[in-house]
Amino acid sequence: MSYYEKHFQYEFNVQNEQKIFLDLIYVTINVILWLVFLSDLVFIKGLFMLTALEEMFLYYWPKLVAALYFAFMNTWIMAKFFKRKKLPLMFITMFFISSAFVSIPGEYFASFFYSKLVKIVEPSTGLYVIWNITSDFITICIFMLVYIKVIKLPATRSISIYIQYACLERLCMILANSAVSYLIILLLLHGHVLLLLKDDLNYMTKTDTMRWDKLLFHEFGLLFILDSLYGVYIISPNVGTNTINFQTIWIDMIAILTSGYIMALIKSATREGILSTHKMDYMRQFQEGQEHIIQTFAELSEAKSGETGQHVKRVAEYCKAIAVNMGIDEQEAEYFRVAAMMHDVGKLLIPKDIIEKPDKLTPEEFEIVKAHTVYGDELLSKSEGNIISIARVVAHQHHERWDGKGYPQGLAGDQINLYAQITSVADVYDALSSKRAYKDAWKPDEAFNEIVKNKGTQFSPAVVDAFVSVYKDIDNVREKYQD
Ligand SMILES: [Fe+2]
Ligand SMILES: [Fe+2]
Repeated sequence: MSYYEKHFQYEFNVQNEQKIFLDLIYVTINVILWLVFLSDLVFIKGLFMLTALEEMFLYYWPKLVAALYFAFMNTWIMAKFFKRKKLPLMFITMFFISSAFVSIPGEYFASFFYSKLVKIVEPSTGLYVIWNITSDFITICIFMLVYIKVIKLPATRSISIYIQYACLERLCMILANSAVSYLIILLLLHGHVLLLLKDDLNYMTKTDTMRWDKLLFHEFGLLFILDSLYGVYIISPNVGTNTINFQTIWIDMIAILTSGYIMALIKSATREGILSTHKMDYMRQFQEGQEHIIQTFAELSEAKSGETGQHVKRVAEYCKAIAVNMGIDEQEAEYFRVAAMMHDVGKLLIPKDIIEKPDKLTPEEFEIVKAHTVYGDELLSKSEGNIISIARVVAHQHHERWDGKGYPQGLAGDQINLYAQITSVADVYDALSSKRAYKDAWKPDEAFNEIVKNKGTQFSPAVVDAFVSVYKDIDNVREKYQD
């Protein structure tokens, strides 16, 4: 039995044959009622028997419009700026999790628990207001979590957007004294916000430089103020009557100031963010230029030693993969990637005939080649900066061995800089698995086994472990940058 049938039997208690006719009448009455509600003519209410659902609708319809507006705006932004799919589903979800909509079940939730609460403690208006604000926060936080899941943006950004809508909705509740004025204020405010932020919308959705966390702390505080102001209406209902009085104006003024403050904060956070985007763009260009020079420089040194430019690229990528696996943060690992390209830069200072000699080197010649580590250290000592300081230690120590039998200093274990430990593994693996003038390329598996075999003797055990765990990525890089 459908809801309507049940209701209709309860209301009119009719015979079966009359059902269809009365059903029609019932539906017609309902349609008229819904239309009437929309025009805010609530006096009709007394003339008909209303279901609980209709009573709810009568009271809450402006909130439903606000929820529709929220759903529309969010879906539109997701479609326009983030090219999201499944829009109808998103629209429906947004509607049900909007702060305007959730305040409806929120009210029931609050009064339900308040009735339980007053059984334990003395009921008072103050307690009621405090409980109202608290439960409001709880409801908002629960649905905010759903919002974060749906919108799939970083949490601070999602929470901030959600709170912004919640604040505007609260402001409307405070300023309005009827359903219609609630809607007019809502539209005016949102129009105002859009106008203020229209040039920044693209930026706000696209970049990561905006300090959403900072904004968020203020927004939480301001939502609390707005909620508390709304609490005043609960304490003294006469403040909210249609007559204009001092208290009403006073509360409205604070609410408007509070919201204005939020708007100013959003605007200034955007400005600040745009500025730091510009700075970061500049830094990135600067770093890219530096990287380009370093790469050319590194390729030169590799070309001189009969290796290809691909060798430095591969070693650099292997190094980064191992470093990230060992817990070095992304930015630092990126510096290391660029720095690792210069590990053999000292070879530029080794005589050409020794470097290019196809036969086995004499002990004297080998001593000269070994000096490329010291030359690298000296060459790079002239400059400063994050990348160069990593490059310098890598150039100096990449032929050191874990067991102390390497060169030039014969350092052992963790006396060797971690970056040099990593570069050593990456460099040897690549030298083994690629073709050189004096040898054929080993099969990747053989090169891999050789590295593992020398764990704890030539190579750092921790670095070899990391090398093994990221070997799949290393293998992909080797395929991608083949000679
Ligand atoms: Fe080297
Ligand atoms: Fe190398």
